[in-house]
Amino acid sequence: MSGGDKLDFEVRPNPQPVAAAERAALMANPGFGRVFTDHMVTIRYAEGKGWYDARVEARAPIPMDPASAVLHYAQEIFEGLKAYSAADGSVTMFRPDANAARFNESARRMAMPELPEAVFIDSLRHLVEIDRAWLPTSEEASLYLRPFMFASEVFLGVRPSNEYLYAVIGSPVGSYFARGGVQPVDVWVSPTYTRAAPGGTGEAKFGGNYASSLVAQAEAIEHGCDQVVFLDAVQRRYVDELGGMNIFFVYDDGTLVTPPLGGTILRGITRESLITLVRQSGGTVLEQPVAFDDWRADAASGRLREVFACGTAAVITPIGQVRYPDGEFTIADGNPGEVTTRLRQTLVDIQRGRVEDTNGWIHRIG
Ligand code: PLP
Ligand code: COI
Repeated sequence: MSGGDKLDFEVRPNPQPVAAAERAALMANPGFGRVFTDHMVTIRYAEGKGWYDARVEARAPIPMDPASAVLHYAQEIFEGLKAYSAADGSVTMFRPDANAARFNESARRMAMPELPEAVFIDSLRHLVEIDRAWLPTSEEASLYLRPFMFASEVFLGVRPSNEYLYAVIGSPVGSYFARGGVQPVDVWVSPTYTRAAPGGTGEAKFGGNYASSLVAQAEAIEHGCDQVVFLDAVQRRYVDELGGMNIFFVYDDGTLVTPPLGGTILRGITRESLITLVRQSGGTVLEQPVAFDDWRADAASGRLREVFACGTAAVITPIGQVRYPDGEFTIADGNPGEVTTRLRQTLVDIQRGRVEDTNGWIHRIG
């Protein structure tokens, strides 16, 4: 079947899965993105034929011709979401439909074919079901799902590829940051590099955005920081986002502020969920620009009480110290703030099915 909203997946279980004892050892302290499950999903696309050859099979290297388009012009997009062990023993995914929609927005920006939302969600469900033994049960851990798609046509001309491979891999993960979930991280405001310009690719979850962030992230690490903060590319004044997460500011009157979407930052699903949750509980969130100079001044005056990063990998992580070429400053006393801690708990309780899901965000599997 091709081109439709449903595909039949051929399931070929891995004949040599990792033994239970080895799996348990690997999952004891998985870190982030180092341990992988036994299977992967792949689906192929060809112009004129549509999506075909959907498979669930043993995770294995993907053979590539050296002239595969992605190796030359980087036509690649991805998503990231997590499957959680829920309180009732089922498995939950948080807003996979939002990831499906964003995947297709990224696809459109990168001149790639869209994948029907139902097929995207089915691909995740298949992987979680077959690799269920890899789902961590502890509170800090989950099964990170990484759907991605790349240009697989063997061709060196610069034009959209006529062939693509979509795949999903799974990775049991703990906290993204080595120091652990709720410990504040330090950030570096890059004076040199920007992430995305108006009209560019910043709003797409496109591999190249991450490639270009690496040197800035290296600069952050050289300055003893965990993540880089990017300022806008035009005025070099306003805060855009971090290398792999969005940012929120919490002020002394309880108001939250987060930079607006406008094409240069990723439309974070965690960001949007937090905006919804705060507004539903009667709080105020403003989507408005935050100048770096104001960030520094408001931290000094005490008007700014908390700052946190958010994203699938980061969940909600407090920001403690901010460094920049001329100095550094601390947010409040450098410890996790009350609003940050409470929002994190609310979000995690929803993701793990411990509180009522009034927004229809939870997708249950089995
Ligand atoms: N910003 C960037 C650049 C990201 O890579 C991510 C992670 O996916 C986010 C923000 C947060 O997005 P989400 O909350 O959908 O994971
Ligand atoms: C995610 O949160 O899913 C991301 O893709 C960001 C990256 C830091 C892993």
